[in-house]
Amino acid sequence: MPLAGKKIVLAVTGSIAAYKTPQLVRQLIKAGAQVRVLTTAAAEAFVSPLALATVSKNPVLNSVTDGSSWNNHVELGLWADAMLIAPCSANSLAKLANGLCDNLVCAVYLSARCPVFVAPAMDEDMWLHPSTRENIKRIRSYGNQVLAVGHGELASGLIGEGRMAEPDDIVDHLSRYFSDDNKPLKGLQALVTGGPTYERLDPVRFIGNFSTGKMGIAIAEALADKGASVCLVLGPTHLRTYHPNIKTIQVESATEMYDASTKAFVQSDIAVLSAAVADYMPEEIAAEKIKKTDSTLQLQLTKTPDILATLGKSKTHNQLLIGFALETTNEVEHAIDKMNRKNADLIVLNSLRDEGAGFGHDSNKITLIGRDGFQRSYPLQSKQDAAAVIVNHIQELRHAEKTV
Ligand code: CTP
Repeated sequence: MPLAGKKIVLAVTGSIAAYKTPQLVRQLIKAGAQVRVLTTAAAEAFVSPLALATVSKNPVLNSVTDGSSWNNHVELGLWADAMLIAPCSANSLAKLANGLCDNLVCAVYLSARCPVFVAPAMDEDMWLHPSTRENIKRIRSYGNQVLAVGHGELASGLIGEGRMAEPDDIVDHLSRYFSDDNKPLKGLQALVTGGPTYERLDPVRFIGNFSTGKMGIAIAEALADKGASVCLVLGPTHLRTYHPNIKTIQVESATEMYDASTKAFVQSDIAVLSAAVADYMPEEIAAEKIKKTDSTLQLQLTKTPDILATLGKSKTHNQLLIGFALETTNEVEHAIDKMNRKNADLIVLNSLRDEGAGFGHDSNKITLIGRDGFQRSYPLQSKQDAAAVIVNHIQELRHAEKTV
């Protein structure tokens, strides 16, 4: 019973599919979960709060304030092991995608640190509208899981896509998520580096790069979703992850990243170094702001410690080490050279020549390059999908190692 004891916040929004939610609550409770239900005002036109309160055995909340009392959305967001938004209407989806906060459902969603599952429900034309497509892409990029919509008769009388996933399928999806069978990396420790590094020149300036850390966070989350305990060493970026299996260590410079990574690597079974580490740093950091004097300025730079190469030297045969290569010319040749020089088991190559791939984009186009001539290229895909491909390959490598 993977849902036994799991605390689930179910947010019901305004769609005809809301009439199925008492059944959904019953099934979640039958599977052992505790359920607290939130509704939007529009949802209550489609389903009775009394029915939801009766089946969930908890009062239904529909507002941030209730008369003179305050419904603590932060507490609810922290209480939950999972938040399920079902049905999620086109309007609520747009709010989630844009961070709006004009009702309790949005406030709890923004406060939640747990995985969020969204089961959309709307008419086919609304579902296929470019703004809905964009909103779905957006909420996925924030790490939320979107359940597939069904095909069939819609409230409009039309037949098409847009039906909320059936309660059975939603409960199955959550059960699979919490099931140990779906956690092949459970018990393993993983180290992931991500983001840029900043190398200070003086108190107000640094040498950096355009990496945002999106790829590193996606890899950390894909490993954590499969049960690994992840240490994410993250360079300066505004992006964050709140995955319960991820501990983030924020660093600034290549040296700090080196220190944190070499320490974490000792206990790691898997290390994926996706950070865009500066190759050079100023030989000295000026104590005061560097004033402009001459028409040119010479900076003396020195090499940063190479984290991947260092880990490659200390790697044992039980550890898997994965590096990244961002190349502009002779990509495969350079990537193979990098893998050999740094003693990595696998290199993820991304080329700056590919449109939509690389720093800051939501998508990436990768080629995996391994030992013994292994090479596999993938089409442009979201960074989450690219991360899943990398993590699946890591599983294959671990399996191959065990069977040798
Ligand atoms: N890397 C690292 N520490 C550094 C530099 C790079 O761990 N000081 C890691 C990156 O995280 C990445 C891989 O090494 O996994 C490749 O980085 P890259 O800078 O492209 O490789 P270099 O060996 O520095 O090669 P070059 O700059 O000559 O392309």
